Amino acid sequence: MRADGRGIDELRKLRLEVGVLKNAKGSAYVEWGMNKILVGVYGPEEAPPAVERAERCILKVEYRMATFCSLEEHGKYTPNRRAVEISKVLREALSNLIILENYPGGMIEVQILVLQAEGGTRVASFLGAVAALIDAGIAIRDIGYGISAGKINNTIVLDLSKEEDNLGQGDIPICVTRRGDIVLLQSDGKIQPEELERAIDMIISKRDVFENIIREAFMRRYSKELDSDLVKVI
Ligand code: CDP
Repeated sequence: MRADGRGIDELRKLRLEVGVLKNAKGSAYVEWGMNKILVGVYGPEEAPPAVERAERCILKVEYRMATFCSLEEHGKYTPNRRAVEISKVLREALSNLIILENYPGGMIEVQILVLQAEGGTRVASFLGAVAALIDAGIAIRDIGYGISAGKINNTIVLDLSKEEDNLGQGDIPICVTRRGDIVLLQSDGKIQPEELERAIDMIISKRDVFENIIREAFMRRYSKELDSDLVKVI
């Protein structure tokens, strides 16, 4: 039994909304447990002249934490090494999803702001980024999602909370595509190869859950638009 009573592969409550920001081409809001994250996507725009024109589109990803998002971050205004690292790994993960060669000479920006953090913000940001990219109409090879697996009392569990992350024996954030390709994998504990395989299998087994979460977010978005159009006609 886990601290909050969840089963070993039970996720915290997850809510995804898309099209939440007026001034971004695509956007998403993720609430996952106590995490609250906003993502805005811009582009594809023409890459600035200073940047060499590339065959593939340039992808910029910026993960930032609001100064009120956690006790640790309170009052810190400049991105720390961790934020730089998370921006980099998310950029690499998203580069494998976006069909960058569709937009030569272009640039896509993914801006992520963590409003509240409670463990697992990088995987929650990945989900928000995927949804915001779809919302922006940007071509992706497949949908993707991530979950942070962990090891507690020698058992592999899914979706570590901050408390579990602090006390557990390991934290293994993994992002995958619906097809099961791994696009991000980090690990900061002592994990045996068979434990890693178990974590990957458990995460891949959640594919239908995430496909539905993404589909339902878009159905809510477009049914709202339909409703308001109807109201206008009436
Ligand atoms: O958020 P994620 O689990 O992807 O990253 P982490 O580095 O494993 O951090 C775990 C949690 O610790 C975060 O979600 C935050 O709640 C907290 N944290 C923070 O608020 N500020 C930091 N500089 C580091 C961690």
